[in-house]
Amino acid sequence: SPTYSYILTSSPKPGVGLITLNRPKAFNALSSALFKELNDALSKYDEDRDIGSIVITGGEKAFAAGADIKEMAPLTFSSAYSTNFIAPWSHLAKEIRKPVIAAVAGYALGGGCELALMCDIIYCTANATFGQPEIKLGVIPGAGGSQRLTRAVGKSRTMELILTGKNFSGKEAGEWGVASKVIDGGKDELLEAAIQTAETIASYSRVAVIAAKEVVNKSQELSLREGVDFERRLFHGLFGSKDQKIGMSAFAEKQQPQWKNE
Ligand code: CAA
Repeated sequence: SPTYSYILTSSPKPGVGLITLNRPKAFNALSSALFKELNDALSKYDEDRDIGSIVITGGEKAFAAGADIKEMAPLTFSSAYSTNFIAPWSHLAKEIRKPVIAAVAGYALGGGCELALMCDIIYCTANATFGQPEIKLGVIPGAGGSQRLTRAVGKSRTMELILTGKNFSGKEAGEWGVASKVIDGGKDELLEAAIQTAETIASYSRVAVIAAKEVVNKSQELSLREGVDFERRLFHGLFGSKDQKIGMSAFAEKQQPQWKNE
């Protein structure tokens, strides 16, 4: 595996790619250099036929405490605009087709919260700390927080969070539907649960899994009518896959399907 400076990669279970943000001295602040490595690792897992789903996690204290404030401080409007600052952050949501689970312990602030929101599923510990504190720095969220948080928890709550910069807990993230599972234990239990779910996803037909992710994501962008039509077309399309025949005949024969991922 490639040598990275700010992340670790491993495959803890068959079909599962694990990326651990590993810049502990800066609470995993998401510098451009870190993001370049993250995108590289994500792309490699996305292309890897042996990997079916991906988990992104951080440390015990921080998933990620946001964009790197020291790197951002000297930016000007023209440098941020002309270099399209943090454009590489869109790679995960735009290009990665396999499901990505965020396993959040500790701080997920600013860009860290936004990174979690870009993932397809969020698991967190009850005492994780989410928030969009950019207002305290004289800016606003810049990696989709105002849009994705609104879709996740509604306008009033998002307005309050972004305008006050107040944090919310992992427990609240679960109650509000930001996270789909809240773990009472620590990082080990969290990671175990996330990896287990990733392993389940990786055990299914890769073709069907990618289609499932694509249709759910379309619901965030299309009207209901267009979204249902899009789903129907892709559903029809899956009858052209070998895995549809394999899955449905295995059911009839009361056997486990042996996916070809074709
Ligand atoms: N960028 C750069 N460095 C950071 C950082 C960040 N976002 N967050 C923490 N660090 C660094 C600190 O500077 C400190 O480094 P030094 O030891 O060299 O001084 C180290 O990590 C430890 O941090 P603290 O001493 O502050 O630790 P703490 O336990 O007192 O507090 C914390 C932890 C609450 C996470 C606090 O560090 C904090 O508030 N961090 C900033 C959170 C933030 O504002 N994030 C939003 C960034 S803006 C953004 O993300 C824009 C966007 O939408 C894309």
